[in-house]
Formats: sequence, structure tokens, C-alpha cells
Amino acid sequence: MTKKFVRYIPDRPVDAVPVVGLKIEEATCDDLAAVADLIAQRERNDRESHLQHLTVQIAEGADSCQIFIARLEQELVAYARISRHQYPDLPVGWYLTGLVIAPDQQRRGIGRAVTEHRIHWLRSRSVFGKIDQLYYFASSRNDASRDLHSHFGFTEIERNISVPGCTFEDGIGILYSLPLNGRH
Ligand SMILES: CC(C)(COP(=O)(O)OP(=O)(O)OC[C@H]1O[C@@H](n2cnc3c(N)ncnc32)[C@H](O)[C@@H]1OP(=O)(O)O)[C@@H](O)C(=O)NCCC(=O)NCCS
Repeated sequence: MTKKFVRYIPDRPVDAVPVVGLKIEEATCDDLAAVADLIAQRERNDRESHLQHLTVQIAEGADSCQIFIARLEQELVAYARISRHQYPDLPVGWYLTGLVIAPDQQRRGIGRAVTEHRIHWLRSRSVFGKIDQLYYFASSRNDASRDLHSHFGFTEIERNISVPGCTFEDGIGILYSLPLNGRH
């Protein structure tokens, strides 16, 4: 397993404490430095390029990208995005992207809660009726993420995909979709 992916443990650890009091919010510009730190900690690189990227994304507005954060007490414990993309050779549409949970808060149900929240957010948008599929991609090496998304009904539709800026860390890229059709 590469450094970016958590160790795959199929059964929830018996000592995992379910999260209570989680607040999921739309990120503001004031949150972006902390989000960049969280991503840089995961990627083990510098926060500045993440901060620049997030600043561009938040400026695009919710018609193309919404950034969410989750807090416990005042601490930022997770971030994720839902964005409309036009990647070359991939379906145009809404994608779940960027999910990162703080290492000391993982396996408490936060990733699942943030993913559910993003799907509900999309459902609340006026464009929802025109959206047939929600997309998500992951490295074949990221079993934890793939399991998380499979609980929501995402199924594989294409292998060996290329996404600008994604290396898939020694694995291959896999595209998944979730038919919406008024569900969720
Ligand atoms: C993958 C990640 C987002 C999961 O978030 P999380 O808050 O720890 O996950 P949850 O507690 O909500 O778990 C939901 C389900 O996901 C799966 N899962 C999560 N972590 C897992 C792990 N380490 N091993 C196996 N399955 C895992 C399980 O099916 C789990 O359900 P269960 O606990 O009832 O068995 C988190 O580990 C993370 O931030 N990893 C690094 C960044 C990353 O890989 N992001 C995904 C990019 S596509």
C-alpha cells in the first residue's frame, strides 16, 4: 500500500468510537488554509499549491464546485468536494472528489457522513432533476475508499481512466457511477 492510502481493514475495529456532534458545513475562504494543511498532511507535500487550487475552486461558485468541511468542536476533521467536471474522455457531470479525513478521526463514520451530505446537497439543487448519474473515481489501490463508496451504490463503469493531475499512485484509475433517478 502506498503512503497516501489507509491500511485496508475490512471489519470496523472493535475500539472505533462512532462520531457524535459532527458539523458539516460549506467551506468559506477563511477555512481554506486549514483545508490546505489537511490535504498537505495526507499528500506529504507543501500546502501552498493546495491553497491556490482551493482558492480558485471556491471562486468558481456552487454551480461548478462546492467545498465542504466537517468540524468536531472547533477542530477541522474532514474536507470533501462535489464538482462539475468536463474531463477529457470522461463523462461530463458531477463528481465526488477530494475526500480526506484527519488521520486521528478515521473509521468513525465521518467519511460516510460527509459523502451522504454531498449527495443530499446535490439533491437539493435545482439542477438535480436533470442529473442521471453521479461520478466518482479512485485508484485501484484505495480499497478503503472504494468500499466506502460501494455502500452508496456506486458501481464500476470504466478502468484505466486518465484524470489530469491524478497519478493513482501505482494503481489504475477506476471510474464509478451512481444512478440517481430520484434515489437518495
Ligand atoms: C478513505 C477515508 C476517506 C475513509 O474515511 P473514514 O471516515 O475513515 O470512513 P468511515 O468511518 O466513514 O467508513 C465508512 C466505510 O468505509 C470503509 N472503510 C473506511 N476505512 C476503511 C479501512 N481503513 N479499511 C477498510 N474499509 C474502510 C468501510 O466499509 C467503512 O464501513 P465500516 O466502518 O462500517 O466497516 C479515509 O481513510 C481517508 O481520508 N483516507 C485518505 C484519503 C483518501 O484515500 N480519500 C479518498 C480519495 S478517493
